Order: sequence, then C-alpha cells, then structure tokens
Amino acid sequence: MKIIKSLTIILVGVFITSLTLAQNAKIKIDRDRVIGDISPLLYGNFVEHLGRCVYSGIYEPGSPLSDEKGLRKDVMQAVKDLKVPIIRYPGGNFVSNYHWEDGVGPNRIPRMELAWSRLETNEFGTNEFMNFAKQLGTEPYFAVNMGTGTIEEAQRWVEYTNVKGGSYYSDLRKKHGYPEPYNIKYWSLGNEMDGFWQMGHLNADDYSKKAREAAKLMKLTDPTIKLIAAGSSNYRPTADPNEWNATILKELKNVVDYLAIHIYVGNPDNNYYNFMSTPLVMEQRTKIIKGMIAREMAQANRGSKDPIYIAWDEYNVWYRARRGESAKGTRALEEHYNLEDALVIAGFLNGFIRNADIVKMANLAQLVNVIGPIFTNETGMYRQTIYFPLQLFAQNMTGKSLDVHVACETYDTEEFPIGLGEQKTQQKNVPYLDVSAAINNDEIILSVVNRNKDKAIATDIILQEGSFDGKLNVYEVNGPDVKTENNFNSETIVTKENAAISAKGQKVTYSFPPHSFTLIKGKIK
Ligand code: AHR
Repeated sequence: MKIIKSLTIILVGVFITSLTLAQNAKIKIDRDRVIGDISPLLYGNFVEHLGRCVYSGIYEPGSPLSDEKGLRKDVMQAVKDLKVPIIRYPGGNFVSNYHWEDGVGPNRIPRMELAWSRLETNEFGTNEFMNFAKQLGTEPYFAVNMGTGTIEEAQRWVEYTNVKGGSYYSDLRKKHGYPEPYNIKYWSLGNEMDGFWQMGHLNADDYSKKAREAAKLMKLTDPTIKLIAAGSSNYRPTADPNEWNATILKELKNVVDYLAIHIYVGNPDNNYYNFMSTPLVMEQRTKIIKGMIAREMAQANRGSKDPIYIAWDEYNVWYRARRGESAKGTRALEEHYNLEDALVIAGFLNGFIRNADIVKMANLAQLVNVIGPIFTNETGMYRQTIYFPLQLFAQNMTGKSLDVHVACETYDTEEFPIGLGEQKTQQKNVPYLDVSAAINNDEIILSVVNRNKDKAIATDIILQEGSFDGKLNVYEVNGPDVKTENNFNSETIVTKENAAISAKGQKVTYSFPPHSFTLIKGKIK
C-alpha cells in the first residue's frame, strides 16, 4: 500500500513537472507601466581617428566610390539606412592628444598619433566631419581634449564652430570657407580620463577641476551647449569606478548634463551562455550610477536644467582585435562579428530601453571598420551582423518604454570576466527571453532575444488592457549557427521579415526560435 502511494506521488509529481515544462513563457504588456520617454539619441554611433574608421572608411578621396569631397558614397548610404541620430567625434583615446587647429584650414599638420600608433595627416578634421554629419542629417557630438589639451583650446573650438562671427576663431572658420556656424550642441569634456592608458590621465579631483573650468569657458562662449562628463571606463579588478563616478558627480553636479560611461564585452573563453548575459552587467552598472545621480540631484542647484542623465557613449563587443598588432596602426580593431555578437548588441539595446528614464544617449563604438557594423575595402563594403539589431531598433523602437512582465525559464552563469581586463561577474537567474517594449501612440513594439541556443520558446504575449488590432509585423535576425559571420561575398545574417501574425483580442502566441532576435510591431486598440 505504502509503495503504491509513493508511486502515485511520484507519478503525480512527474505529471505536474511535465505540465510546468509544457507551459508557455509569458510576456505581459501594460501600456500604463511607462518607464520613460525613449531618447532619440539611444541609437547613436562614434567615429574616431583610429585604424580605418575615418581614412578609407568614411573618407577615401580619389576612390571611384567617393564623392567630390572624398566621402564614400556606399558607406554614406549604409549609414543613412542605419538612421544614426548622433555621432561622437573625433575620439576616443585619440582625442586626448588631438589639437583641432591641426585639422582646419589650408595647412594641415601631420602628427604622430600616439594612442593607436599611426601617422595622423589631419587631412580630415572639423569641417570635413561636419560635411559628413550634415549630409547624413545626424547630430554631431564633439569631444574636447582634456588630456594634453588646455581649457583655452576647448573654448576656441566652440568659438570656431558655434559663434556667428566677429571674433578671431569664428572669422577663421569663415576664412576657411564655412560662413555659417554649426551650432554643435553636444560636447564631452574629455574621454576616459580615469584610465591609466589615457594620455594626460588625471585623478578624479584634478579631472573635476579641469572639466569645471573648461565647461565655464565653453558655456560662456555658447550657453546653449550640453556637456558630458567622462564617467567611469576603468572596470579593471584594481580600479574603483564607483569612487570616480561619485567624485565627478559631486563636483560637476551643477555643471554637466550627462555622465558618459563605457563598456566592452567579449567571449574569449567561448562560453555562449556567459557571453549572452553580459548586457545585464551594463544594466547593473546603470542602476548603481542612477542611484548616485539621484543622491547628487537632491542637493544640486541646476535651475531649469534637466537632471544629469547617463550616456553610454561607447559600448560594443570587442575582444578579438584587442591585443598586440591587432590594436595598432592602420588596421587596428578590425573585429569580424558573428550572430552571437549581434544578439549581445540586441541585449544592450534592450537594456537601454528598460532604463530609458535615465539612459538618454548611447553610441555604438564605432561606425566603420574599427569594431564597426560596416566593413569596407577598396572595392566595396558589407554590413556586419551587429548592423541589423541596431537598425531595427533605430527604425522602430521609439515612443515610451514599457515595464513588461516576463515569465520564462532562467539559467545561472559561471564566474567569468565580461571582457578583456574586466572585473569578473556571475549572473544568476538570467532569463532565456530578454525583452523590452515600447508604445508609440497606438503601436506596440516588442523586442525579444531568445538566448536559448537550442530551443524555440513558445510565448504568450498578453495585453493587460485593450486588444491587438489585426496585423503584427515580425522582423527577425537569426542564422544557421551562432558563429555565422557576414563577409564581402555574402551577408548571411540580415533582418528577415517573417509572415505577419494576425492578432485580435488580448493574447497572441508566438514561438521565438533558438538564438534569435525578433522585433514585433503592430497596432493595439
Ligand atoms: O573605441 C575604442 C577605444 O575604446 C576608444 O578610443 C576608447 O575611448 C576606449 O577605450
């Protein structure tokens, strides 16, 4: 009797477990649970004088593929299709020894480029970049030299670009053939000044003092500009990034508009599931910094200015071309991306959307050839895998970010370094479905990465209120294997538009394929 009873218990147990396993995952969407407005600057990019990003990337005079000003037309088209709202320029580590006057006017001064071991001809500079940005209709975002540069040099750059005329530097711009001011709105006060690798690296107190004085002069020149402080980029085991951010925020709380943070992740140990969790680290850092900002904003005196926001103004997958010769010279940082990298980029973008109340700018580093979504040679170009999630977000994920409820299976990672030289992490309860959502008027946009490498996940997508209004468009980035790359001959990993889902009522069920990124969009009523 006892045996039969325990057998029954076991059988019931097995039945319940299999019922549980058979249950669909759930995504519940409530249009009233708004996190914040999605900043149009979330899908930004970055152009640094590094490797082939500028020279033979966006700019190749004399090439049959270029226009009369030397801009590569094929690259321009790919960038236009990416709908890039803002581009940071000219560095990066490069900027910490860059003197902008070397790159304007008829006499360009060639210099040794010390950050990435090249010769910088300075043939491409402020006015060439502004021509590029104008043709794209993208917002320029300039970084000043807070390493070897002076506060006076930073002020003069603002005068050159933003003042109408009458002063020495604004008239110099006119003399160079550019009568109208550019009114460049976004300016960052140096790059990664907490990094020992940075030319002219400072400690937090010295950086704060220099940045505050540079900001004063720059704002006196043009009070309408927005300023971005160099937050933490050094997450090596020996560094204390929170200490750096705390000091910068305290000292510059009334001065700057954004705090810039950088993150690069990688998969050097070839562990897919560890790697897929790395964007969560970005979110964890975001939350810590958000708390620090809130503490300082409570004591700030900012007048009518918005509170300080976070700008993730460098993020990407970067680990293969990061050491020795691959990080130097004219072919530096040429990473070739695969499908798993594209899924990680979709994960970052999901993370930015989930933190849309505080993250108001993000810039994939970088645009072309150098850890870039676009890759060129003398005869053409192709779009790398990471191009496609960024494009789908830029084209579709706008409006207000929503706090969705997700119920699905999870996994734990091992302890692992998130990138080369980075702190270690261990992530617990990583959901296989990584989800973000937005509402734009009466349109719902849902972004889902299925991190599961082998299994599709059948999912009920449920509206808490209202109902679907007919058709849902479905876009997918996926491929035969997570290691699949694109190349000049074939773009295997691209966005595919799947058959639309016909949806009425409150619920629709969709099966997200293994190792995929899916964006679903449609009207609700
Ligand atoms: O994007 C490549 C480099 O990474 C940038 O120059 C620097 O800011 C960061 O360390």
